[in-house]
Amino acid sequence: MYRILVLHGPNLNLLGHRETKIYGKVTLKGINQRLLKAARQEGVELTALQSNSESELVDKIQQAVEKYHALLINPAAFTHTSVAIRDAIAATGLPTVEIHMSNIYRRENFRHHSYLAEVVVGQITGFGAESYLLGLQAILGYFGKNPESIQKRKAHGRK
Ligand code: DQA
Repeated sequence: MYRILVLHGPNLNLLGHRETKIYGKVTLKGINQRLLKAARQEGVELTALQSNSESELVDKIQQAVEKYHALLINPAAFTHTSVAIRDAIAATGLPTVEIHMSNIYRRENFRHHSYLAEVVVGQITGFGAESYLLGLQAILGYFGKNPESIQKRKAHGRK
């Protein structure tokens, strides 16, 4: 069974109250519930975590390589600042989808650059809470087209 880790970055714990014109009224709990339901329907095991701390996110990515086949991450503000999160993804080689609820390319200039973009399989940006569900579909599609990415992980002892 595929195991997928979902990481939510800083301030996403405030979803539902925070800048609702941009992010809508959906809460993080609501997003995780929708993701868990979709994962169950796909026969995938999914774990979701949120942290406001860059170092904690780096630790989780490093540890994920032992347990998970792929990563979905909304790095939030760290998208635009964090070489450390980018390097952690590159170091683990975990297939990763970068997720944003808002379309970062339609917002302020400082949001147009993502430090992660070069090390992820792809980005999904601008579909609100739906971005996460599209991310899940995207990574399952990627597994289908790149079975060796899973085989390699199995060979390294991650069943
Ligand atoms: C975000 C976009 C980021 O620019 C911002 O800092 C966030 C959320 C999004 O989901 O649209 O916190 O990642």
